[in-house]
Parts: sequence; structure tokens; C-alpha cells
Amino acid sequence: MPDISVNFAGIKSPNPFWLASAPPTNSGYQIMKAFDAGWGGAVWKTLGVPIVNVSSRYGSVNYRDSRMIGFNNIELITDRPLKDNLREIEEVKKYFPDHAVIASLMVETREQWHQIVRDAENAGADGLELNFGCPHGMCERGMGSAVGQEPEILKLIVGWVKEVAKKPVIVKLTPNISDITEPAAAAKLGGGDAISLINTIQSIVGVDLDNFVPYPVVDGKSTNGGYCGPAVKPIALNMVKNCAQHPDVNLPISGIGGVENWRDAVEFILLGAGTVQVCTAVMHYGFGIIREMIPGLEGYMREKGFDNIAQITGKALPNVLNWENLNLDYKIIAEINKDKCIGCQLCYIACEDGAHQAIGLGSNGTRVPYIIEENCVGCNLCSLVCPVEDCISMVRKDSGESHKTWKERTDEGSIPVTFNDKLAGGLHHQIPEPLSALKKR
Ligand SMILES: Cc1cc2nc3c(=O)[nH]c(=O)nc-3n(C[C@H](O)[C@H](O)[C@H](O)COP(=O)(O)O)c2cc1C
Repeated sequence: MPDISVNFAGIKSPNPFWLASAPPTNSGYQIMKAFDAGWGGAVWKTLGVPIVNVSSRYGSVNYRDSRMIGFNNIELITDRPLKDNLREIEEVKKYFPDHAVIASLMVETREQWHQIVRDAENAGADGLELNFGCPHGMCERGMGSAVGQEPEILKLIVGWVKEVAKKPVIVKLTPNISDITEPAAAAKLGGGDAISLINTIQSIVGVDLDNFVPYPVVDGKSTNGGYCGPAVKPIALNMVKNCAQHPDVNLPISGIGGVENWRDAVEFILLGAGTVQVCTAVMHYGFGIIREMIPGLEGYMREKGFDNIAQITGKALPNVLNWENLNLDYKIIAEINKDKCIGCQLCYIACEDGAHQAIGLGSNGTRVPYIIEENCVGCNLCSLVCPVEDCISMVRKDSGESHKTWKERTDEGSIPVTFNDKLAGGLHHQIPEPLSALKKR
């Protein structure tokens, strides 16, 4: 049996599955129930000066039969007294000494940070997570994402925390920023022991067309919230990858955003995460989803021959390159399995109107389309819109012997360089006439 226990920046946990700081970690009761079900760790709902929440608080994006593919909230940090939370942290640690309990924290001044760090550690927290990510309500008061968006301030506050912290410090980042690696590198400079990402994405999930007010509605008004759930996973995966590959970050990463099952979790781990955190999926389906996640992860590792989590952490990173390093000589085209085709012609419409006019309609009354090979660029669109599994496959057509990247082709002159592309790793070609004319205007 593979070993799925983790030591994340010094925080030990029986498995890499942690609950993210959110309503599922509001209380000791919930966290003990979650640990009983199998969760390895929990990041407590953010502690600070208790707030007063509004009602209602949540909104969602539903798509056809799928509910809550995106989830939005306008709630703030804990509304419970600090002393109650601290007492319950102590209790949880008494009953579950081998599980990871991390205290999420958010306060303002240096003195407040010192005090709350000491309080959380005295209560027995195994680690601290600094919430520099909340993009609503708290940021207007100079906390949460207001800190995460200012690398210098973030570094300063991490420094304050490290002045007194004895336990590992995880810096939780906001995705509401153009380059996530900047605050990540600042977390490292400030002395942080790890980073976690992503917190929620600032959002409005929809508008009531009759009453002219966005959701969720609070007495006829609304405000922007934070977006999470399955819809944000692609954004989170990319940000985790960016941090994992950046030489100035070099910190353990706890991956968060849209994790619903073991496959999602493994994707985060393959892109560099050492643990994963889950919020929306538990709010949707309950703590019981862990019962599928643990055997799923173990089965995957056994099948692939991995003994421990460290062996798969970052395993996909060498395969994520900058665009200019991809092989331009690799060629695939679509192939339609006539026996599986149901004749819906969705592929035809998509390719004809939205892509490369590489699909034709059959004659003699057949509804099965055919591929026009010379037009097909191998973009995948037809296989993505096809509702029948394995009906359209992409088949390799090049010999597999030639490998030329965009950079190699431009260097040898077989592709003309038509713009001054920074991605080309410092190639500074002249801007062609039409573009420079445009620039002048
Ligand atoms: C209702 C709600 C409340 C949240 N409260 C907090 C919080 O107090 N502190 C925090 O760091 N993150 C908070 N989050 C963000 C989550 O911890 C997590 O970063 C985010 O939801 C992405 O994960 P998910 O896609 O699994 O939900 C909250 C999220 C939701 C939905």
C-alpha cells in the first residue's frame, strides 16, 4: 500500500486532504466529524476580531443538470468569539493529535498579529495560515486581498508573524492579481514556510432580471463576492503551476480551488502541490466525499508504482513549457468513427462556423459527416463538442521524427517574425511597418 501521509513544511498529516478555511471548519464539532470521516487536516475558519455577517450570503452558477459548478459568497471571517474557537482547537487536538489543525488568521496591526499567533499556538494549532486572500468585505478594511495584492506589505506582515511564530506559517494568496508569483515570492522573502492558493476570485454570479439586483440579495441590494468551486479549478491549477515553476518562490504549496474528487487532487499534486484543500465540494456533498478520495489516490499510486506523495508532487511540471518550446511539427487530425456517430452534426456546425471548415456533410442521405483532411488543423474542437464518447478521435499524422519549435523555426528563418514578441526569450525583431503605423496613430 502506498504511503499517503504528508509532512507539509513541518506539518504532519495522515493524508494530503485538508478542509479549506470556510464554513465546514467553523467549529470543533464539524472538524472532529470530518477527521472521523477521514480528512487529514483542517484549516480553521479565519480567526480575527469577530464580524457580523449578512443574510443571504451565497450565489451559484448552475449549468444544465449541474448545480453549483461555480459558487459565490459574500461572507467574512469567523463571527464566533475568539475564545470559543481557541478552546475548540485545543479540544480537537486532544482527540486527534495526529491530524493537522491549522489556524487561519487575519488581523490588522503588528501587535494584533503577535497576539493572535501566540493565542493560536497556545491552543495547539500545528500551523498558521495567513488569510491574504478574501476579496470582499475585509479588503475594504485593508485586510485580506488588499494585503495579497501588495507584495511589499505582504512581506512586511509575514515578517511580523515570523517574529513570534514557532509553528510553520502558510501564506494564503489571492488570485485577484495579474502575476501570482509576485506575492508568492514576497511570502518567501518575508520568511513564510509555505503558500496556499487560491482564495476566491472576485465575482458577480448573476443578476435578478426582474428586480435589477445581483445575487446574493441582501434586502434588495448586493455586493461583489468571491468565486470558487469546480469552475475555478483551471485558474487555480495554472497559478499553482506558475508558483511551482518559479525559481524565486521555491516553497511547499497547498493547492486549493474546485477540488471535488481524487482526480482533481492528483492534478494539483502533479503540478506541484504537497497538500490540497477543499471547501465548495464539502459544502455541496458533505464530509463523506473523503471516502472516495483516499482509496482513489491510493489506487492511482499503486497502479502507477508510486510509494509516497513526494514522488508524484510536481511530476507534470517538466511537461509544461512556454508556448515557443512546443513542437510545431507535431500534426494530428480528426477521425470520425462512423459506427458510433449519431448524426447530430454538432461537429460540422462547430467546425464550419467556428473553426476551419474541415468537416463535410455526407451525400446519399447519410447524416454522418466526413473530415476534409487538407483543411483540418487538429484543433480538437469537433471532438470537444461531440456528445458521444470516443466517436471523434485525434490521430497523429506526422512521422514523429521531426521536432522544431517556434523559436528554432524563427531562428533559422523558416517562419518570419512579424512582431516584437517578448515570449521569444529576448528576441527583439523590428516591428513591421503596418504595426508601427498603427502604434503611431
Ligand atoms: C462561504 C465561504 C467562506 C469562506 N471563508 C474563508 C475564510 O474565512 N478564510 C479563507 O481563507 N478562505 C475562505 N474561503 C475560501 C476557501 O477557503 C477556498 O480558498 C475557496 O473556496 C476555493 O476552494 P473551493 O473551490 O474548494 O471552494 C471561503 C469560501 C467560501 C465558499
